[in-house]
Amino acid sequence: MNENIVHTPTRINKWLCHKLECFGDFIKYYSTDKSRFYLEPFAGGGIYTCKDTDCLVDGSELRALKDGFSKCIFLVNDVQDASNLKYLTASIKSESAVITGNCINDKILRQTFNLIPRSESSFAFIDPPGYNRLRWSTINKLAAHGTDWKGYKMDLLIVFPLEMALLRNITRPDCEASINRLYGNRDWQQVRQKRQDDEIGHSEARKKLVSLYKAGLKNLGYRYVEELKPARFSNPPNYHLFWASDTRSRLQELIDIWSKPRYLPCELFSNVSVHKDA
Ligand SMILES: C[S@@+](CC[C@H](N)C(=O)[O-])C[C@H]1O[C@@H](n2cnc3c(N)ncnc32)[C@H](O)[C@@H]1O
Repeated sequence: MNENIVHTPTRINKWLCHKLECFGDFIKYYSTDKSRFYLEPFAGGGIYTCKDTDCLVDGSELRALKDGFSKCIFLVNDVQDASNLKYLTASIKSESAVITGNCINDKILRQTFNLIPRSESSFAFIDPPGYNRLRWSTINKLAAHGTDWKGYKMDLLIVFPLEMALLRNITRPDCEASINRLYGNRDWQQVRQKRQDDEIGHSEARKKLVSLYKAGLKNLGYRYVEELKPARFSNPPNYHLFWASDTRSRLQELIDIWSKPRYLPCELFSNVSVHKDA
């Protein structure tokens, strides 16, 4: 590891590594237009280590810079992560900016939008550490203020922490306020009620929670709103994906990428097998 990265990279499991590999493939398809701005409101330190093998794994930030976008804006809440990311991005030729701060802070978001000229289109990757950090007000602001000169809203790819977090906590009274903030309304409480009354099971509740979030994105006026349950790399998959765009559907690409059987780079013979069926 480079000694200038003072902070030891977080150790991640294979499921997270899988998400990053899929994301890397997605942006290779997506970013044919290099002039597009990339925004990551929940950015991290840029690099991880794999729990099983100790090998270094690029985070979404470095993948976006190396494989897709030359104009990246990263909002990093953690000061140490921000300093690592600044160090790592400095050697990559790009027009990137690392802003230290919390994405729920209006001033920080305004600072971000000021860096994106209205003549340019943009894409945001929203990958929160849990449902209790993601607020509808943030999604709303990204959609409302990230419009280009044609009036197209910012494309959004949202990693929605459904299975491991939201579904497990839906009936807990102490989680009510954060779930209200996640949806920006109280409609989800009907799902909670039905669950508490045993009218619906786990899988019906999952479907309804996904539909409600999708409806929220549609209400923002997005032309294409799509969702995908990733293939069962781990059991159960711990997130759901949402795509929102005014310009085009990406559902087939998401399905192809996230459902493709793949070896991870640290796995044996990965170089031989990973791209065999690509
Ligand atoms: C799931 S990680 C995603 C990192 C990156 N997408 C990746 O996979 O390489 C979520 C990140 O959001 C950061 N974070 C947490 N709360 C935040 C907030 N309110 N504003 C901005 N970032 C936040 C955490 O420090 C963490 O690095």
